[in-house]
Amino acid sequence: MATSKDILTVELGSRSYPILIGQGLLGDPQSFTETVHASDVLIVSNTTVAPLYLSTLEAALRPRRTVATLLPDGESYKTLGTVTRILDVLVANRFGRDSVIVALGGGVVGDMAGFAAAIYQRGVAFVQVPTTLLAQVDSAVGGKTGVNHPGGKNLIGAFHQPAAVVADTATLATLAPRELRAGLAEVVKYGLIRDAAFFAWLEQQAEALLAGEPEALAHVIRRSCQIKAAIVGRDEREHGERALLNLGHTFGHAIESATGYGRWLHGEAVGAGMVMAARMSHASGLMPQDDLRRLVGLIERLGLPVNIPNVAAEDLLEHMRIDKKVLGGRIRLVLLRGIGAAFVTAEYEPDLLRRTLEGHLADL
Ligand code: NAD
Ligand code: GLY
Repeated sequence: MATSKDILTVELGSRSYPILIGQGLLGDPQSFTETVHASDVLIVSNTTVAPLYLSTLEAALRPRRTVATLLPDGESYKTLGTVTRILDVLVANRFGRDSVIVALGGGVVGDMAGFAAAIYQRGVAFVQVPTTLLAQVDSAVGGKTGVNHPGGKNLIGAFHQPAAVVADTATLATLAPRELRAGLAEVVKYGLIRDAAFFAWLEQQAEALLAGEPEALAHVIRRSCQIKAAIVGRDEREHGERALLNLGHTFGHAIESATGYGRWLHGEAVGAGMVMAARMSHASGLMPQDDLRRLVGLIERLGLPVNIPNVAAEDLLEHMRIDKKVLGGRIRLVLLRGIGAAFVTAEYEPDLLRRTLEGHLADL
């Protein structure tokens, strides 16, 4: 079956790779001709996604030998123990260094399959086949792989770029509405960071996006991937600009680990985290009131939480202190001068962070 697709590129010299975006791509053998040269392929998926898409993917990968390993579903399984299971399957099936791992699923599967690919025999190739909106707009692109630790989100991991990203937009039709909304939080992030026009477009298209309108979704996937690919191409290892992509994440990660992984979806925690960052920016005299109002309005219209109940400010602070964004004992944050204008800083009034957290929680 021939499929129409958009192709973007993450420019990283000899490690550059394509992002294919289109309907029906995962069942199209052409999606993999350029990128899966190996005869041995391990497909990593989970017990929810595999019944929906595994057989289609296996057919597209023929005549290569495919072995599938299905992980339990959920953020709470994003652990070193689960990665060990992937490694065990690779060893048991005598996969060599020229094998390819294909990640079929959302960000949880993609992060773990990518991490297994980073460490198995000191690194094998992998291809991301993201099936959630969040993974198609964010986690499948850029090579951050890893797992959670009880003490902190994504604390264990490696940079390992995929050989390709194959984003089949048709898979979004089976996604639960709550998961679609969580993905939209990461989309809002791109507008907030550096594209005020895209943010305004999201305000106009919120209902179409919530209804899963394919054209609207395809546009947000393309625009989000364009922005992320450009940033990763300039700053792969997050020495500078890439840190902007963590807008809302230091708050969000703390929400996720303080409340127990899985209680709040990653995208929901990021949505609330962006509101925290915006409130702190406004309180610092940086972000205009109207921009803050627009952000809160959009997050609410997308059905995402703007506040997180049942968590203490001190708890969140404790978790923020062990986040990866702490440098020299100071928590670095992404703050906003307005919609489309984010920047990274560790220079803020020390008490303001605590007051933001307390205010946020007191708002309930
Ligand atoms: P997820 O992987 O848990 O997927 C969400 C749910 O949807 C799961 O139950 C999954 O089984 C199900 N699902 C997936 N595709 C489906 C489909 N097409 N139809 C029906 N159900 C489907 O969550 P997520 O939001 O995709 O990813 C969140 C994870 O991504 C977090 O662990 C987060 O830390 C990570 N992340 C990583 C990066 C990165 O740069 N590596 C960036 C952002 C987020
Ligand atoms: N999700 C943040 C990043 O990829 O850098």
